[in-house]
Amino acid sequence: MPKRVRTAVFPVAGLGTRFLPATKAMPKEMLTVVDRPLIQYAVDEAREAGIEHFVFVTGRNKGVIEDHFDRQFELETTLETRGKEAALAELRKELPSAGRTSFTRQQEPLGLGHAVWCARDIVGDNPFALLLPDMVFRAQPGVLKQMMEAYEETGGNIVGVEECDPSEVSSYGIIERGEGSDKGFRITGMVEKPKVGEAPSNLFISGRYILQPEIFTLLSEQEKGAGGEIQITDSMQALMKQQPFTGVKYDGKVFDCGSKLGFLTANVVFALDRDDIRPGFLAELRKLDLSDRL
Ligand code: UTP
Repeated sequence: MPKRVRTAVFPVAGLGTRFLPATKAMPKEMLTVVDRPLIQYAVDEAREAGIEHFVFVTGRNKGVIEDHFDRQFELETTLETRGKEAALAELRKELPSAGRTSFTRQQEPLGLGHAVWCARDIVGDNPFALLLPDMVFRAQPGVLKQMMEAYEETGGNIVGVEECDPSEVSSYGIIERGEGSDKGFRITGMVEKPKVGEAPSNLFISGRYILQPEIFTLLSEQEKGAGGEIQITDSMQALMKQQPFTGVKYDGKVFDCGSKLGFLTANVVFALDRDDIRPGFLAELRKLDLSDRL
């Protein structure tokens, strides 16, 4: 039986330059898809997968994320006195229990790998889940839960992957697929942003990982890679020489909400998925004459 994964790390210290000016003073992770911030989707997904401890790696301008996962007594009292029971229940349901969140700081955005390394003392010598909150999934059950099922069988390191169009491989980290089924196959290599025609597959890494703590030792020695940043993929490639990596081609689809296109598409799709919003949303759209834009 592999050691249980109880902790999840959420790196939220990036600058979000692709989403300026929205992210000048507001964290990208607080942008909303319909009515929930991106970070809430990731935390809910982790909770569904059995995660008990939520570790946020924050940076400047990110204090509001900490507030989002705290009690808001003034607001709660107002909702109570106004009899808004449903909104109140929703607020309370979403809160991790006391003592189950940790916040650490990445003083400089030196890259995703560096952000993960900043969580090393909190995670300790334990396997952990890593969720990039700007990647939001439409999946049932959640992607991390699907990966956790594979982990219980194989242990080691798990990476969630999804198929992309072969013409788009140069936008992603792409894996080389070895033996196994879609629900769990050996990863034999990884390349960051390969040229079209040179990629080992069209399976891209979409922002969900289960990693063993040995990654921290490798991260502490990791040189800067692509974009002058400390990259998690480089350390994963090094770890792959010591430990098995399993790929899970999950059921579901990712929306890259760190990009404007992914974010807008997610808002439309998630709104159309909601029974309480879909009829009104469609009615509003039909009132507009958008035929010359579509
Ligand atoms: P991104 O690759 O989307 O980078 O990070 P970014 O800097 O936030 O955004 P752009 O590319 O400039 O628009 C993926 C996740 O990793 C975090 C981000 O906050 C995001 O949730 N991250 C990235 C850090 O915590 N620290 C870093 O140094 C870089």
